[in-house]
Amino acid sequence: MQTTVFCANDSEKLAAAGALLRGGGLVAIPTETVYGLACSAFRPEAVSRVFAAKGRPSDNPLIVHICELSQLSLLWAEIPPEALRLAEAFWPGPLTMIARKHPSVPDEVTGGLDTVAVRFPSHPAARAVIAAAGVPLAAPSANLSGSPSPTSAAHVCRDLSGRIEMILDGGDCDFGVESTVLDLTRTPFAVLRPGSVTPEMLRSHIPDVITDPAVLRPLAEGEAARSPGMKYRHYAPNCPVIALSGPGAGSAQYIRANRREGDAVLCFEEYLRTFADCPSVSYGREKDAADLARGLYASLRLLDGGGHARIFAQCPPLSEEYLAVTNRLCRAAGFHILHLDEKGAEL
Ligand code: TXA
Ligand code: MG
Repeated sequence: MQTTVFCANDSEKLAAAGALLRGGGLVAIPTETVYGLACSAFRPEAVSRVFAAKGRPSDNPLIVHICELSQLSLLWAEIPPEALRLAEAFWPGPLTMIARKHPSVPDEVTGGLDTVAVRFPSHPAARAVIAAAGVPLAAPSANLSGSPSPTSAAHVCRDLSGRIEMILDGGDCDFGVESTVLDLTRTPFAVLRPGSVTPEMLRSHIPDVITDPAVLRPLAEGEAARSPGMKYRHYAPNCPVIALSGPGAGSAQYIRANRREGDAVLCFEEYLRTFADCPSVSYGREKDAADLARGLYASLRLLDGGGHARIFAQCPPLSEEYLAVTNRLCRAAGFHILHLDEKGAEL
């Protein structure tokens, strides 16, 4: 299959993407978080093609994307009143909410669950494509299963060229990590995947929102995942990753004392020069959670496939502000995480 890449600013191409999607085609679209691989949520055969193109396990459900609140009633059996409050505060934007599904949502979308995750993206091209398609769009991140999520059209090309009809290039994504996923089907409401909308921000509207414990630790044996995505290692580099959480000065010292020939470093920008003598990539400024999130996946892609023995990753301290980045690094490290003080000693 030939994959064509178009500029996401071109309104004719957005209309063409909408027609393609209505007809059951697959189009990768930019969003403010990461690129998504979109299809009509109401065409089961197109949804199945999305799973095939990504190599995604069929029990891992997709998020459905809307461009107006009136579309919620097509997707949810009932609209929880709290959802409307949160929509008012955070939509359009990087928040996904899960509620009981409407019977007409195909099982292919939800992986057989009786719930469906919905998001209203803020990216103008994403909204324009949904509007042009005239239907809600199911869209997982537009990467091969197991690769870091794509934050540029070039990343999507590398993973999915030849497997999908069209890619819309909207430049680099603003946030760089996937949306916050909030489950409204059980109380207390729980964040199943941290993103740029932090638990603290959610609590200023719904006071008792919690973070699911499986966000920062592996599932115990026999423990049921509240989100199927928790069962899967999102991004599995070919070599071990060791996440070093704590002040940058401490993790830098730990890396210098423990690294061996063949190891690589994923570091804060402030430390890049000090690792000039080994393969090293910086992903953002230490104290800037948004900068780190924006750079994380592109940096992991740069390190990937480099034939490194191990990757040491400087990781921010555990706090809600940095939860999205810490969660992604913990998962890349298979939860192999060391907590260090400012001298590089293990806590
Ligand atoms: O920012 C984002 O959310 C991006 C862009 C493209 O919108 N999308 C994205 O989709 O990250 P995906 O498929 O890569 O991740 C969706 C996550 C998975 O971990 C999945 O298990 C979880 O959301 N999920 C989806 N529907 C669910 C449901 N009904 N119940 C529990 N978890 C669900
Ligand atoms: Mg994904």
